[in-house]
Amino acid sequence: MGKRLDGRVAVITGGAGGIGAATGRLFCEEGARVVLADRDAAAMQAVAAEIRATVPGAALLDLVLDTAGEDAAARIIAETRRVFGPVEVLVNNAGIRAYEPLAEAKTETWHEILAVNLLSHAQLTRAALPDLRASGRGSIVNIASTHAVNPRPGLGQYDATKAAILSLTRTLAFEEAAHGIRVNAVCPGLTLTPFHVRRLGRGREDLAAERVDNCLLQRWADPREIAFPILWLASDEASYVTGATFMVDGGQKVL
Ligand SMILES: NC(=O)c1ccc[n+]([C@@H]2O[C@H](COP(=O)([O-])OP(=O)(O)OC[C@H]3O[C@@H](n4cnc5c(N)ncnc54)[C@H](O)[C@@H]3O)[C@@H](O)[C@H]2O)c1
Repeated sequence: MGKRLDGRVAVITGGAGGIGAATGRLFCEEGARVVLADRDAAAMQAVAAEIRATVPGAALLDLVLDTAGEDAAARIIAETRRVFGPVEVLVNNAGIRAYEPLAEAKTETWHEILAVNLLSHAQLTRAALPDLRASGRGSIVNIASTHAVNPRPGLGQYDATKAAILSLTRTLAFEEAAHGIRVNAVCPGLTLTPFHVRRLGRGREDLAAERVDNCLLQRWADPREIAFPILWLASDEASYVTGATFMVDGGQKVL
């Protein structure tokens, strides 16, 4: 057990998914009091049970809700304050994908993906700012994607939301620096999470063993390898880092 987030109150959206769950677990290991918010009740139950069973003394609150829902931001902040106190760290991680070339992109899909991948983060951030400002050392980590900067065909809506997250990150870093809040973005490369296991219909071990050609390390990232940079950015060890975009991509950018 470490102490890098000792007693800090952290909210992580999409906390029942691969990167969110790994981050929640690592934050608990590092002494944080952690709120996981996710709309997948079954996955949340499994993730919360696993963390409680394996991290002694884990302080964990699991909230099942749609982060794009009307009162979601207010509810997350209210529940966090009620159980643990004011929010000091916010990880905006919940995300969905849409596989529609832009020529065929449906308006309905645009609305849905913007609501989850962008607006829910903007709204939760706005609701958390009073607490983050009051803490004097608030930290926000936004999860974007390497595809926020590297184009590819077929996921234009998703990639546009991730590019917007980088923009949001920089403007917020600018606006909130005077309030002691640091705001950074992490861009994961291919990460072996339940989403991809389901999408590809293959076993996790099988995928983990395969050679991936899109990065120097030639393999998928494990979600914990994304969680460590998130932890560092959230912690005081990154006290001079704000407005930054961290490519955690196995060297994809060099290729
Ligand atoms: N896995 C990758 O290769 C990869 C690469 C780059 C970026 N990312 C980003 O990392 C983040 C996490 O991805 P992941 O691979 O762990 O995905 P995942 O699908 O395993 O987890 C995402 C979680 O978000 C939750 N979620 C989605 N919409 C929600 C909503 N409206 N309300 C509440 N919960 C909601 C899902 O239920 C799920 O548990 C996402 O933002 C994703 O875009 C992932």
